[in-house]
Amino acid sequence: MQTVQETATLRAVIRSWRTQGQSLAFVPTMGNLHEGHLSLLRKAHDCADRVVVSIFVNPTQFDSGEDYARYPRTFEADQASLSGTDCDVLFFPAVETMYPYGLEQSVRVSVPELGGTLEGIYRVGHFDGVSTVVSKLFNLVQPDYAVFGEKDWQQLQIIRRLVEDLSLPIEIAAGPTQREADGLALSSRNRFLNAQQRARAPAMYATLCWMRDNYFSGHTRAVVETAARARLQRAGFELDYIVIRCATDLTEPEEYARTGLIGLAAGHLGSTRLIDNLLFDA
Ligand code: PAJ
Repeated sequence: MQTVQETATLRAVIRSWRTQGQSLAFVPTMGNLHEGHLSLLRKAHDCADRVVVSIFVNPTQFDSGEDYARYPRTFEADQASLSGTDCDVLFFPAVETMYPYGLEQSVRVSVPELGGTLEGIYRVGHFDGVSTVVSKLFNLVQPDYAVFGEKDWQQLQIIRRLVEDLSLPIEIAAGPTQREADGLALSSRNRFLNAQQRARAPAMYATLCWMRDNYFSGHTRAVVETAARARLQRAGFELDYIVIRCATDLTEPEEYARTGLIGLAAGHLGSTRLIDNLLFDA
């Protein structure tokens, strides 16, 4: 595996693969890699001859209330865990490489509606930052496939829309959420949980499962959402939302809808914010 920081080097390596007729899959990350990221890498390798992974902690997707500086940076460990895999190139650009005109002057890519609901309400501007950096990375890597995790369901739908609406010739593949044995979705933020919070954290996934079962047993969406909210709050979460939505466009479903649904939740345990989701008809 080759680690590349400069865009000229990245382009040269990719050009040499292309002249040999090889296909390319891309996995963008912010590092602090765990089994969730590595599962996407394996999926990428199934899609294409060559795999590029990027590690870039993107400043424009952190809002002012969040600590960009606090995001875990574990480059050496990440590099070591990637070197045992099918990753061909680890792209590790500097902030100046990704934002040559500075953060404020950067061209922005925005996906309205989809980017403004749920996470977009609680993390204002977050998805503009994600859409912008992913667009830039796509232009640098020019992959045939890009792989994203279902763990960040809203992000996945936004990237799908971005690719379709901008007519980018990239196929988006999705990997299922990887979980701890007790159901907690793997996340770089889990390391911030203390022992008591860690013990409470699986309640988010458990409540999503409970919400699905209760909805399918015939209760209305409003009743189930209210009860799920109370359940998670009792478990110690300071909740942002736990809702049932249409899986692809995240709009509110018709009453008694039974297909194409997803439960999505977000909340805090202390200063750590967790999100999770569950496809209801998976
Ligand atoms: P990051 O949080 O590092 O996640 C990188 C990819 O890993 C995303 O597609 C995410 O959905 C996926 N992922 C995270 N946890 C997972 C889990 N438990 N199971 C399966 N997949 C999981 O998402 C980002 O970075 C950034 O927003 C990025 C797209 C890189 C843009 O900056």
